Amino acid sequence: KERVFSGIQPTGTLHLGNYFGAVSKWVQLQNENKEVVFSIVDMHSITLPYNTKDLEKNVYLMAASLIACGIDPQKSTLFLQSQVPEHTQLSWVLGCLTTMPRLGQLPQFKEKSSILKDVPLGLYLYPVLQAADILLYKATKVPVGEDQIQHLQLAHSLARTFNKRFGETFPVPEVLIQKDCSSRIRNLRDPMKKMSKSHPDARGRIEITDEPDVIVEKVKKAVTDCKSEVTYDPENRPGVSTLLTMHSLICGLLPEEICEENMLLDTGRYKSIVAEALVEKFTPIRQEILKLIDSPEYLSKVLQEGQQRANLIALDTWQEVASKIGTIPNN
Ligand code: TYM
Repeated sequence: KERVFSGIQPTGTLHLGNYFGAVSKWVQLQNENKEVVFSIVDMHSITLPYNTKDLEKNVYLMAASLIACGIDPQKSTLFLQSQVPEHTQLSWVLGCLTTMPRLGQLPQFKEKSSILKDVPLGLYLYPVLQAADILLYKATKVPVGEDQIQHLQLAHSLARTFNKRFGETFPVPEVLIQKDCSSRIRNLRDPMKKMSKSHPDARGRIEITDEPDVIVEKVKKAVTDCKSEVTYDPENRPGVSTLLTMHSLICGLLPEEICEENMLLDTGRYKSIVAEALVEKFTPIRQEILKLIDSPEYLSKVLQEGQQRANLIALDTWQEVASKIGTIPNN
């Protein structure tokens, strides 16, 4: 049976990398009537220092943002990871099936731990919990951005190891990564890097809640290069190509077609066209977020219903796992 699963951390606000790389694909899959399960992964967000008050606020903000982007709680199961305890239970079992060198070599761990004096164990176990998220729902498809590939490879190998050791249990999940540049939206100030929530320069990312004038300003300040024509060349011109990628995803034309349309413009003037397209696309979404965030009761009801649905699947899998590993499921 086909089932789509993906997750997003409630750290800060959803940005356009998250939107184009993941969330817009989630909405597509949902609307193709696939069975879809999406989690706000708060347990992943506490692996690095954070503020408890912000976490709760950010969970609601993320729920509101996902709904405003088109996740329909009637069609999708949208829930908060920590409310389904089987995630951490399964992650323990999976943790017993991998090794320290395997986790230590993952690029995101290496990058994040390299700047810390004391590395929390949770940061190290992070990808094991992520594998548990996916396997708990026996997901067959996982739509993510490019930065998650290595984590999904770990999930693959854990599924295989478990199946081999304890008998066929988990489908090996297929990674859905778009071939176009949307799977890695660049940082506007530093196009060699990806757009991310954690980059200290906020001008490098456009957040889904940014006001129109902020979007315009960020696009205007986006780093391009010394050439002034508008051409699509992600390899050699990552700056202007990122603008073209986002623009193309909004208007449905190919980046090359947009270049042709704007042949007479320089990148400076093209930027105002992109900014206008982004403002037009995201203004209604921003307004919807503001409306939703004003009704925490509604958001908490959505998460509660999501939790109930997610829990049915999670409990089933957990009981199967418990009996397969030789312990006693409690039912
Ligand atoms: P997170 O919260 O960092 O990002 C959520 C999703 O957005 C994608 N993404 C991007 N795509 C394109 N360009 C970018 N600049 C960009 N930045 C982020 C990410 O690839 C991701 O798909 N570990 C995960 C959350 C997670 C998860 C899971 C995902 C936990 N459990 C199970 C899938 C399945 C993360 O930190 O995503």
